[in-house]
Amino acid sequence: MTDTPRKILVTSALPYANGPIHLGHLVEYIQTDIWVRFQRSRGHEVIYVCADDAHGTPIMLKARAEGIEPEALIARVRQEHEADFADFRIGFDHYHSTHSDENRELAGQIYTALRDAGHIETRTIDQAYDPEAGMFLPDRFIKGTCPKCGAAEQYGDSCEACGATYSPLDLKDPVSAISGARPESRASEHYFFKLGDFEAFLREWTRSGRLQDAIRNKLDEWFDTGLSDWDISRDKPYFGFEIPDAPGKYFYVWLDAPIGYMASFRAYAAQQGLDFDAWWGADSDAELYHFIGKDIAYFHTLFWPAMLHGAGYRTPSAVFCHGFLTVNGQKMSKSRGTFIRARDYLDHLNPESLRYYLAAKLGDSVDDLDLNFEDFVQRVNSDLVGKVVNIASRCAGFINKRSNGELAAELPRPDLHEAFVAEGEAIAEAFEKREFAQAMRRIMALADQANQYIDEAQPWVLAKQEGREAEVQAINTQGLDLFRILIVYLAPVLPKLAADAAEFLNLDDTRWASREPLVGRSIQKFKPLMTRIEAETIDKLLEASKATLAATEASSATDNAAPEATVDPIAATIDFDTFAQVDLRIARIANAEHVEGADKLLKLTLDIGDETRQVFAGIKSAYAPEDLIGQHTVMVANLAPRKMRFGVSEGMVLAAGPGGSELYILNPDDGARPGMRVK
Ligand code: MSP
Ligand code: ZN
Repeated sequence: MTDTPRKILVTSALPYANGPIHLGHLVEYIQTDIWVRFQRSRGHEVIYVCADDAHGTPIMLKARAEGIEPEALIARVRQEHEADFADFRIGFDHYHSTHSDENRELAGQIYTALRDAGHIETRTIDQAYDPEAGMFLPDRFIKGTCPKCGAAEQYGDSCEACGATYSPLDLKDPVSAISGARPESRASEHYFFKLGDFEAFLREWTRSGRLQDAIRNKLDEWFDTGLSDWDISRDKPYFGFEIPDAPGKYFYVWLDAPIGYMASFRAYAAQQGLDFDAWWGADSDAELYHFIGKDIAYFHTLFWPAMLHGAGYRTPSAVFCHGFLTVNGQKMSKSRGTFIRARDYLDHLNPESLRYYLAAKLGDSVDDLDLNFEDFVQRVNSDLVGKVVNIASRCAGFINKRSNGELAAELPRPDLHEAFVAEGEAIAEAFEKREFAQAMRRIMALADQANQYIDEAQPWVLAKQEGREAEVQAINTQGLDLFRILIVYLAPVLPKLAADAAEFLNLDDTRWASREPLVGRSIQKFKPLMTRIEAETIDKLLEASKATLAATEASSATDNAAPEATVDPIAATIDFDTFAQVDLRIARIANAEHVEGADKLLKLTLDIGDETRQVFAGIKSAYAPEDLIGQHTVMVANLAPRKMRFGVSEGMVLAAGPGGSELYILNPDDGARPGMRVK
């Protein structure tokens, strides 16, 4: 390499320690790992650290639901995460936990520095409190009726039906998802980080070439709405670190989460004898990059640089955001089996197939990317098996059988070798810019050229002619030489394939610098490097994935804040007239269908005798549309029409149950006909 080696510290976001790694997460870890391996291949000094994000209410509650201590939960999940990452060949130098001594110390120190510099303020605020569970409730643990449109069963601070945002205390008939109790408003003192103190710094920082355009534009909007103070404390009970000078108050999980990057590095540095300040000090000459999903950009591009700057540390050189993974064009869905866990994938498919497919789709963009299984099978089979591995398998046989495993002393087409090496510049540039899709296209174009060379040279024809052994050997040597260059380019994406190829070619290096002509040496017997994916493997994976989710959903009711089965208290007494105002009718479900873009809703067409009504019902988690069509049920026929994001809802069907798969619509006894009044 002509460049002098760079010192590069790289992180991926720290996954929460309350759930398994799924394919969505892997977009990020695979993207980061490819970039890290590429930089190493180019001879740079790269350190890649990560950790589990172990704090917060959901983790505390999940442990409680399992009847174990949070420490036991996070230890178990960490093991699972590390195993999943290892099997996907995510090559962290160090994997740590935010629930660690290093993190406690750094979080305390950063907080103290910010406080001493006057950037922390305390204020008493009102918050939703669950009197039964004895704790304040995070937004997503409160459910109720939307104050704007009246849609029932809305979580936290925004309505799925009409898109309104509000304070959870504004919800009508709010219920705690933890105990079922009605939350009350309670005052408590909170600690705030005064983000506004850093406005000038942040405006400059966010415009200094560290962010993608889409993110910078988003930030401009945030600057326009004003940088509000950030609430960094939570009251006990909480699983996290107690604030040093505030007993009973804990750091909000997002305060110590990014500090976890430093903590992981600190643990690694201690192990390796590295100088922490050379990487994190205000005048560090190392590069620092965070790979994250676009959902957590606010934390990484505003709070985090402000905290670092305010506490006297260096800030990130850049933050690289990616979009979200969809599967077969839709949001990953538990019911379709497309919410796929890393482990289920690994039980069925080669991790490098996913690594390649994602590489072939990834660029420097925050747009979502789609895993389309048909396309996946086709790409992996045609590019990796059909093009790349094919070169080796067509050439190796001749060398093994006819030349005793010996390669020729010279290449017949040194120009072709040189052209493949020269293309490395453009490929490297694409990798550097995280334009992996572009890099893959260039590599596959080279693979086509290599195959074309062999097709035209026709070694199988020459092999039948006497006295042309040397030519046959030379052609196949050339083929393997070109294959080796492709392997060097693909090694960041396919580390195992590269290692296996290196073994077969008797090479001990697949880094960028190792592209000298592959001549005058011997090779091993060829073993298939990668096999085709069969379509039915995908079906099996989706089935297995559904089964895994069914099994875990049944065993953990508190996941995703699903309420425990409690009996709701009986509501306040009403007189008959009040009841009689509700016009309930028997309805026949004439049609039921999915609603594009809605997670919970089904669109029902209800026949109530003289007319039909269109109603959006939040029962998708419990019913497939085809099972509803033809059933009779009960609807509220005189509810004011509601305009929802997807259309107008002209009434409401009645259902019982806590939610999720436990929702039961009402059926009248046989004989009831559409339009009959229920009274
Ligand atoms: N714990 C926080 C991050 C703290 S970083 C100091 C968190 N954890 S997470 O487990 O929810 O997500 C980890 C990373 O995976 C995030 O960058 C997130 O954007 C990414 N992804 C999670 N689901 C994803 C998809 N479906 N698609 C792509 N990336 C996704 O956020
Ligand atoms: Zn609403």
